[in-house]
Amino acid sequence: MRHQKQLLNTNRRPTILYLVFAVSIFSLFLFAIQSSFFSGSINSHRNAETIRILSQFQSNLQQCVANRGLGLTAHIVDHCKLILKYPEGTNSTWYNAQFKKFEPLEYNYDMCETLLLWEQYRNMTTVLTREYLDVRPDGWVHYAPLRIAQLGTKKCHNKTLCEEQLNILLPAKPPFRPRQFRTCAVVGNSGDLLKTEFGKEIDSHDAVFRDNEAPVNEKYAKYVGLKRDFRLVVRGAARNMVPILNGSDNEVLIIKSVTHREINAVIKTIPNPVYLFQGIVLRRGAKGTGMKSIELALSMCDIVDMYGFTVDPGYTEWTRYFSDPRKGHNPLQGRAYYQLLECLGVIRIHSPMRSARRQDWSDVPSREMISQAHAAAFRLKKSQASDIGQFGNCKVWGHVNPDKSGPISGTSDMSDVRKFSNYSKWEVMPFKSLRKEAQNHYMQMQGVSLYKMDGNKLDDLVCVRHSLKSEV
Ligand SMILES: *[C@@H]1O[C@H](CO)[C@@H](O)[C@H](O)[C@H]1NC(C)=O
Ligand SMILES: *[C@@H]1O[C@H](CO)[C@@H](O)[C@H](O)[C@H]1NC(C)=O
Ligand SMILES: *[C@@H]1O[C@H](CO)[C@@H](O)[C@H](O)[C@H]1NC(C)=O
Ligand SMILES: *[C@@H]1O[C@H](CO)[C@@H](O)[C@H](O)[C@H]1NC(C)=O
Ligand SMILES: *[C@@H]1O[C@H](CO)[C@@H](O)[C@H](O)[C@H]1NC(C)=O
Repeated sequence: MRHQKQLLNTNRRPTILYLVFAVSIFSLFLFAIQSSFFSGSINSHRNAETIRILSQFQSNLQQCVANRGLGLTAHIVDHCKLILKYPEGTNSTWYNAQFKKFEPLEYNYDMCETLLLWEQYRNMTTVLTREYLDVRPDGWVHYAPLRIAQLGTKKCHNKTLCEEQLNILLPAKPPFRPRQFRTCAVVGNSGDLLKTEFGKEIDSHDAVFRDNEAPVNEKYAKYVGLKRDFRLVVRGAARNMVPILNGSDNEVLIIKSVTHREINAVIKTIPNPVYLFQGIVLRRGAKGTGMKSIELALSMCDIVDMYGFTVDPGYTEWTRYFSDPRKGHNPLQGRAYYQLLECLGVIRIHSPMRSARRQDWSDVPSREMISQAHAAAFRLKKSQASDIGQFGNCKVWGHVNPDKSGPISGTSDMSDVRKFSNYSKWEVMPFKSLRKEAQNHYMQMQGVSLYKMDGNKLDDLVCVRHSLKSEV
């Protein structure tokens, strides 16, 4: 009996324990449901707000394209996706021999991705530097050889070998900075330039970017201006630079793809600063110097005005202001994309058909609207992928020792003409003499320079941190 009672007792105690346990589990469960419901509703509220902002921005974009697109129209698919359409009956004169078809009259875009991409370009370094090669995994062994033609080896196990070829155009750290200039003009080579007289307007910019062999002289001054600051050149044009520069000693040359001995030999005879562009898609067809010029300009300028691109309706051939027409490429596709960029506040398009109307940018979304939409696109992406922040895309980090500033470019092999030139002007510019906006940006980025790993994707960046003390 006693034995049984004891058993009962021991039986009852656990039952109560179980009950208490079950109740507390249940209330925990309720709490969990409630709070997940609560935060869920916050999340869905935030998502709704994000999508509302983007949709609102889409309709502004649509209005902007309607006002400025010379017949182009935007058709909204969802809060990010849209289609730009040319009017029915538009002549598609460019034949793609590879795909055996004419250019389409419709183009699909993801506005959110485009916004993220081009806003990020405003913060990028677009010149190849020594710190980049030092920090990037296999930067010297695998990457440096890709930027040198005729090296005779696919890998640079002997760093000296690659240095010999690159030193002359390799600054230690970025020579140019985000927000360095307020206004910039990017001047293409279209024959359309001869239909207007943009010369004075172009020259009024803080910096002017030109392409390849574009001549700048009295003959064309009224159409293209005389100011010359930057020139983005493909490798073929680089070796012909001496007569084109014609004594314009401070014009900065930026070579788009690769250097080689012949180009290096030319560089030694001119005082101009020469660098390699960082951010090209290597080993793919050269796709428009125009887009790269905009990218280059955007990495240093607040406002980018675009002149001399073939962007008006009625394209018949690819013309150049200084020579006979050549075979063109993707005029409709280019025009649609440039229009999208204009309505995203990236560039301002100037052309014969746009010159008559008053310069009024009120139908282009304002900086405030753009940064709001950018933040929304960013949140949307963040909810899909984690670990995104100001430096969320930094896959590789490097730190620059503040006590050991590297040599300025060209010092190892200094011909007299370079020694007495201004090529180092940009590289040794004191922080204090930078534009206020550039200084503020540098502080906000905590002295970090962002570089593309490769190509157009911005999901993999090389990030180099500089000491704030060494600058300020
Ligand atoms: C398209 O091309 C045809 C033939 O070249 C021409 O007759 C027609 O006017 C052009 N249409 C437009 C809209 O330019
Ligand atoms: C590396 O290359 C340089 C320049 O071509 C050469 O002088 C040097 O001997 C090479 N070093 C080695 C270890 O091969
Ligand atoms: C080169 O510049 C000089 C003046 O600086 C000018 O007289 C000459 O015409 C220019 N040459 C060419 C080919 O543009
Ligand atoms: C160097 O730059 C200064 C100011 O930008 C300019 O006045 C001077 O002519 C330049 N010197 C050479 C050799 O280009
Ligand atoms: C670009 O730089 C600004 C500071 O000037 C910073 O606030 C912003 O987050 C950066 N944007 C991106 C996409 O890196």
